[in-house]
Amino acid sequence: EPEIITNKQQMRNWSRSMRSQGKSIGLVPTMGYLHQGHLSLITEAQKHTQLIVVSIYVNPGQFSANEDLSTYPSDFHGDIEKLKSTPNGVDVIFNPRNLYDYGVERDRSGGSEGEKEGGMVSCLEDEGRGHETWIRVERLEKGMCGKSRPVFFRGVATVVAKLFNIVEPDVAVFGKKDYQQWRIIQRMVRDLDFAVKVIGSEMIRDKDGLAMSSRNVHLSPQERGQALSISRSLFEAKSAAKSGKTVCSELRRSVIESMEAAGGKIDYVEIVDQESLEAVEEIKGGVVLCVAAWFGKVRLIDNMEIHV
Ligand code: PAJ
Repeated sequence: EPEIITNKQQMRNWSRSMRSQGKSIGLVPTMGYLHQGHLSLITEAQKHTQLIVVSIYVNPGQFSANEDLSTYPSDFHGDIEKLKSTPNGVDVIFNPRNLYDYGVERDRSGGSEGEKEGGMVSCLEDEGRGHETWIRVERLEKGMCGKSRPVFFRGVATVVAKLFNIVEPDVAVFGKKDYQQWRIIQRMVRDLDFAVKVIGSEMIRDKDGLAMSSRNVHLSPQERGQALSISRSLFEAKSAAKSGKTVCSELRRSVIESMEAAGGKIDYVEIVDQESLEAVEEIKGGVVLCVAAWFGKVRLIDNMEIHV
């Protein structure tokens, strides 16, 4: 039976008491509505530590005002059942109500509502008053998802730093499904000397190839069929590259064309270095092909590591 903890101080007390008993702690941060992809991170974490904390928290700090915070799917009871039935189980489900509640009386005067336009501000209530410290991983957060989601990665980096400070894990596991996110967290941990080992875990796909995502639930059956063009075009690009077609502009063009032909609206298709995430012109060695596209009202991301 996992213990459910909702309070930051209790979470920290639990971790410190376990640590004092010599136990190692693995953290798997999630926003809930768990699927097999999330559960695979737990399996990975179990290889490294004795105890496992899964956090379930839909972080308002990483959604901008025009994004889908209000419709982000949730099913806490279903999540608990899934976590209970994972092999070896998990030890704690950390499910805080509000990670930005510092228990202080806030000054609600003097807000500049005018600044809250254009998606540059997150959904965090009272931003700039209740909470004003943000971590920016300046270069890595600029491209790809950072372009269309300007507050996303500062929100992710900041909430993950908060979770690290609250849970004090030895190891934290992130999915390579969110490739840029994983690299940003890795860099933050290195640059700020967090005593956490970050592990990137392989992406899990549905049988038909679609990358598992909590947001897939919002796809109509027709959109879901169209969205299969994402993984199909990524696998095609990978085999094209392996058979010598290594010019990135051409590979990108075919990925864009197949996703558009299926009805997708492209956000980006990029071929970048696996660590620097800088665009490359020709594939030599290891790169990652990253895509984001809209199918109906759902924005999906996917990627494929390619080595030639
Ligand atoms: P969420 O989208 O719930 O994902 C939680 C973790 O599961 C992330 O590390 C993500 O990369 C991983 N994951 C999601 N789908 C996966 C798949 N198909 N295969 C493997 N891993 C997968 O990412 C977030 O939440 C948030 O940004 C968070 C890190 C929790 C910060 O709020």
